[in-house]
Amino acid sequence: MRCMRIRKGEGLDRLKLEEADEPGSPGPGEIKVRVRACSLNYHDYAVCAGMMETQDGRVPMADGAGEVEEIGEGVTGFRTGDRVVSVFFPQWQDGEATEAGFGKTPGDGVDGFAQEVVVRPASAFTHAPEGWDHAQSACLPTAALTAWRALVVEGGLKAGDTVVTMGTGGVSIFALQMARAMGARVIATSSSDEKRERLDGLGAAHTINYEKTESWGETVRELTGGRGADIVVEVGGPATLPHSIKALRVGGRIVLIGVLTGVSGDIPTALLMHKQAQIHGVTVGSRQHQIDMIRGLEASGVKPVIDRQFDLEELADAFRHEKAGEHFGKIVVRL
Ligand SMILES: NC(=O)c1ccc[n+]([C@@H]2O[C@H](COP(=O)([O-])OP(=O)(O)OC[C@H]3O[C@@H](n4cnc5c(N)ncnc54)[C@H](OP(=O)(O)O)[C@@H]3O)[C@@H](O)[C@H]2O)c1
Repeated sequence: MRCMRIRKGEGLDRLKLEEADEPGSPGPGEIKVRVRACSLNYHDYAVCAGMMETQDGRVPMADGAGEVEEIGEGVTGFRTGDRVVSVFFPQWQDGEATEAGFGKTPGDGVDGFAQEVVVRPASAFTHAPEGWDHAQSACLPTAALTAWRALVVEGGLKAGDTVVTMGTGGVSIFALQMARAMGARVIATSSSDEKRERLDGLGAAHTINYEKTESWGETVRELTGGRGADIVVEVGGPATLPHSIKALRVGGRIVLIGVLTGVSGDIPTALLMHKQAQIHGVTVGSRQHQIDMIRGLEASGVKPVIDRQFDLEELADAFRHEKAGEHFGKIVVRL
């Protein structure tokens, strides 16, 4: 079978397409899955480009979707032919957060889905949404689940709330779509006026060019009649957080997700205190969160916005496309 591996070298040139033996039959509790699609996330880019350390020969890509080819002894939740989608934290099935790293995350601590066949514990997958194709399902485990967790699990979103989303990457577009589906008002930012038009098309009430309007936090307050937003889905990190705090209503909540502008920095702590605001850090979610989200997506009709699809051998080009910020929504790799 074909698989992509991370070898020694510079940047994305480390990605090498190789041949490998197909795994054998699944053992007790395992399923064999023919992988049909992966989706790109910033985390996968960081692993592949060498910004995060990983083992020589690691198969990248956290998100995979495909169909079940064979069932191991004792597996009850899946049947041959089922369409399935991977989970980001296979060891976090349910309950309170238990994970503070990526030691068992596919494509980082363990091999991921840039390969044609995998054998894994059945608990490392959920069913895919009814009627979705593999490319759509592959968009869910990282980006969609993070948006769901930010808005629903930790954000406590309710109809009528105002949500701020930042940029037009995978997490933010899902957050915009989910928030709209749940009756919230969305103020979305982007560095591109062309992309802002597409945000309008997805139902954003207002859009702001964060490069032209540096004090976009103030703009959010003006656009909400001085009240501020209920929830900010924070994918920027240290450079954007002060603006997010300004954008927030008194008693509002920032769900801190991303590192697009770095991994540490200054926080206006007094303003945070005056706002009586909460900052809640999140890392993706549990398998049960994914099951809940898929039920919500099936009921609401929200479908991923797929920017472009690449073939497995073009994985490096797919990441270059992501890094250039040319995309709107998700980028998918077909197998
Ligand atoms: N904590 C978690 O569980 C979790 C899960 C998923 C992702 N993340 C993190 O969340 C971030 C986004 O991930 P992603 O996969 O959605 O990335 P992505 O698809 O690569 O999206 C990146 C987009 O973010 C926007 N952006 C870049 N710099 C920005 C800035 N300074 N202010 C506002 N927007 C900016 C750009 O949109 P425009 O082109 O429209 O300007 C860019 O296209 C990354 O840092 C990633 O590591 C965290």
